[in-house]
Amino acid sequence: MKTWILNGSPRKDGNTAYLIEQLVRRLDGESKIFFAYDSVASPCIDCRYCWNHDGCSLDDEMQEVYKEIEASDNIVLASPIQFMGLSAPLLCVASRFQRYYAARKFRKTEPFAMPKKGAFILTAGGDGGAKYAGAVARLILKEVGADCLSYAMSLRTDVLPSRNDQKVLEEIGKMAKILNGA
Ligand SMILES: Cc1cc2nc3c(=O)[nH]c(=O)nc-3n(C[C@H](O)[C@H](O)[C@H](O)COP(=O)(O)O)c2cc1C
Repeated sequence: MKTWILNGSPRKDGNTAYLIEQLVRRLDGESKIFFAYDSVASPCIDCRYCWNHDGCSLDDEMQEVYKEIEASDNIVLASPIQFMGLSAPLLCVASRFQRYYAARKFRKTEPFAMPKKGAFILTAGGDGGAKYAGAVARLILKEVGADCLSYAMSLRTDVLPSRNDQKVLEEIGKMAKILNGA
């Protein structure tokens, strides 16, 4: 089993990273974490190559990411909430999933042989809620062919760091079981 995890936090030892670590510890198989803040990939430039071709015209590190996503059984998006949404670097990476949307919409082709399992993790400092960020996470998972089966949210990190948030740690445990196929 392979799980590809997109970490949208700038903090390598932050709340989001801690929850990812807890998830990975419980997951079977191989997990790969991609740090959106370390990425040098371009955002989608809407060149529309993918409207007529299978692939993306931009030849950068996303070409490797595409291979990893296509080989994965599970996709997990994890982000701190910023301005009520997912972090900008995570959205930059996710914009490159447009090729999968275009495959379905314009070329009437399903880009993935098998549906994947999907999940998202959100952390937040307490203002504005998670409704919008959650809806966008679900949309992005759908683009990469993943059914959103689970989520975990730690929304008061200003007063309760995720490592002390028992509720979110239980949610992470349940997420691992779902992704493991239990
Ligand atoms: C630029 C920026 C914008 C933020 N916007 C929000 C927000 O809209 N709502 C909220 O609840 N927290 C917001 N936060 C707080 C973070 O979501 C919170 O601190 C989060 O737990 C950080 O996760 P991390 O430790 O994994 O990076 C924001 C933080 C930053 C740096």
